Amino acid sequence: MTQNSERKIAIVTGGSRGLGRNTVLNLARRGVDSILTYNSSRAEAEKVVALVAEAGAKAIALKLDTGDAHGFDPFVDAVKQALADLGAAERFDYLVNNAGTSHHNSIEATTEDELDMLYNVHFKGVFFLTQKLLPLINDGGRIVNLSSGLTRIIVPGSAAYGAMKGAVEVLTRYMAKELGPRRIAVNVVAPGAIQTDFSGGMVRDNPDLNQRVAEMTALGRAGLPDDIGPMIASLLSEDNRWVNAQRIEVSGGMSI
Ligand SMILES: NC(=O)c1ccc[n+]([C@@H]2O[C@H](COP(=O)([O-])OP(=O)(O)OC[C@H]3O[C@@H](n4cnc5c(N)ncnc54)[C@H](OP(=O)(O)O)[C@@H]3O)[C@@H](O)[C@H]2O)c1
Repeated sequence: MTQNSERKIAIVTGGSRGLGRNTVLNLARRGVDSILTYNSSRAEAEKVVALVAEAGAKAIALKLDTGDAHGFDPFVDAVKQALADLGAAERFDYLVNNAGTSHHNSIEATTEDELDMLYNVHFKGVFFLTQKLLPLINDGGRIVNLSSGLTRIIVPGSAAYGAMKGAVEVLTRYMAKELGPRRIAVNVVAPGAIQTDFSGGMVRDNPDLNQRVAEMTALGRAGLPDDIGPMIASLLSEDNRWVNAQRIEVSGGMSI
């Protein structure tokens, strides 16, 4: 297998906590440097930078609100500076569109503001951030978008969130088609319920919910960040170079 010996660089949005953090750390273990973004958790992001250094790789944390597309041009400038600070070439290799927030409300009660927030963070942000970063992604690079098991498993109260993630799944296939000529592979990872801070940490901290998730999961427990980060790091690697335009559910077999 031809493995490019040149050091790879990833941009991981929402790398300060949860699945993004775990992905950055697993990329570091594979020798991949990262530019990770945080929105509100600067201190957490700096801790991730320190852990990456302990793993023998390099990382820089940049602030980014993925729900505010007006901030994307200045972010691209900050990325160019960060690439220089990492001692890298002018481009990076992997983009992980991970940042996201939860939402629980019925179709009847969801407000326009709630829907707009979800659209901005989970779809518009992914669309335009990718667009703005495309000139900086190396040909032959890879993109992973984050969806959710909730596009397949229908849980009342998750209509708006699930539909936005569904849109990201469709967008993923279009990205794969349009970026194919540049040999950029694009896949979407759909985690099941994972024990992070997501939704106020309820899968991790609510024993009843944790048990319910375990019972509906073939492998018999709720997911952990360590079930997802290594998978994404692997998906970005040369080992999975022929995987393209796929929705890959990583849920331990939830609701099968
Ligand atoms: N955990 C699950 O059960 C689960 C299941 C399926 C899919 N997912 C998806 O996986 C992704 C990561 O979830 P997680 O569990 O890691 O969540 P998490 O632990 O709550 O972490 C969310 C991350 O996203 C960042 N973020 C949130 N809103 C942002 C915004 N407007 N702009 C920029 N960054 C923002 C946060 O940054 P700051 O802390 O710095 O603000 C944080 O780094 C999300 O897309 C989520 O929808 C999660």
